[in-house]
Amino acid sequence: MAAVAHGIRTVGVIGSGQMGLGIAYVSALRARVPVLLHDRSEVQLKKGLAFMDKLLEKDVAKGKVSSEDAKDAKDRVTVVSAEQGLSGLRDVDMVIEAVSEKLAVKEAIFKELSAKLSPEAILATNTSSISITKIAAATIPEGQTAASSEGAKSASRVVGLHFFNPVPVMKLVELISALQTSRDTLDRARAYAVACGKEVTTSQDVPGFVSNALLMPFINEAIMCLEKGVATREDIDKTLKLGMNHPMGPLQLADFIGLDTCLSIQQTLYTGTGDSKYRPSILLERMVDAQWLGKKSGKGFYDYDA
Ligand code: 3HC
Repeated sequence: MAAVAHGIRTVGVIGSGQMGLGIAYVSALRARVPVLLHDRSEVQLKKGLAFMDKLLEKDVAKGKVSSEDAKDAKDRVTVVSAEQGLSGLRDVDMVIEAVSEKLAVKEAIFKELSAKLSPEAILATNTSSISITKIAAATIPEGQTAASSEGAKSASRVVGLHFFNPVPVMKLVELISALQTSRDTLDRARAYAVACGKEVTTSQDVPGFVSNALLMPFINEAIMCLEKGVATREDIDKTLKLGMNHPMGPLQLADFIGLDTCLSIQQTLYTGTGDSKYRPSILLERMVDAQWLGKKSGKGFYDYDA
């Protein structure tokens, strides 16, 4: 079967945190597509761009990227300010949303995107666990229904495109179809992920998809081990690193992902399945209450430089 062209001439990325920035990076450098990067926080946008510059400089210094390619990648990224808002993305062929794991926030963004972007634009979400089907339903225009042709068409261009952190390094993208997603949307989203240099697996739209339905109970068990005093944090991590050849121990990995993100995903798994095996550990909840969010906040299971 011939490969499907993604046909994306410009991509919009919403959120310039660690995931959004990584997606912008592989889009500009690997897929070589102009990127409009939007965040409602100017501070976060500046931080994201500075991090991208640093990554490109490192890759050039290592000889992994030529200085011309790095310059071209940098030139392909344009910032869309908070003031311009989502209207600044009106002409893109695809949006990839990578904001925090909150259903209401994502629903509001997709509703607005559906009103402002062309009905042909693909609307992808990098959610780690939230129902793509629910997000797709939020795009049904006012006055339309899920069964009307305009309502069905709008929802059919929503898809899950789940990248992994750090995006420039991790080779996988998980592709998730909502109940409403069209074949064309799925094929083009897959082709785009491949153009970003990724391998693609597919998952049904279940809480956590394949990746987090497996990863989060593993991380949660490690936190419960620590909570019960079974072993020290160092020994829990060392067991998995040296005993199972994992690149990071589960507590270190939780800090790396962000403890608030881990908790949100675990809550989605727990409420979405009703299965007590997904109940988040109290220690994780308390650490998030304390704003100990892992590496990004300077404190989690370990301490980090600011
Ligand atoms: N951005 C870009 N590149 C990075 C990076 C970052 N944030 N962090 C590390 N790298 C690069 C380094 O530059 C280096 O590149 P090189 O090989 O060209 O020199 C390479 O990664 C290896 O880095 P280091 O030598 O500094 O450190 P490690 O060998 O310890 O690797 C790691 C770091 C790649 C992060 C490795 O520890 C790892 O694979 N950890 C597990 C990560 C993981 O499991 N991610 C998935 C999280 S789950 C998720 O994202 C899903 C979500 O829904 C929760």
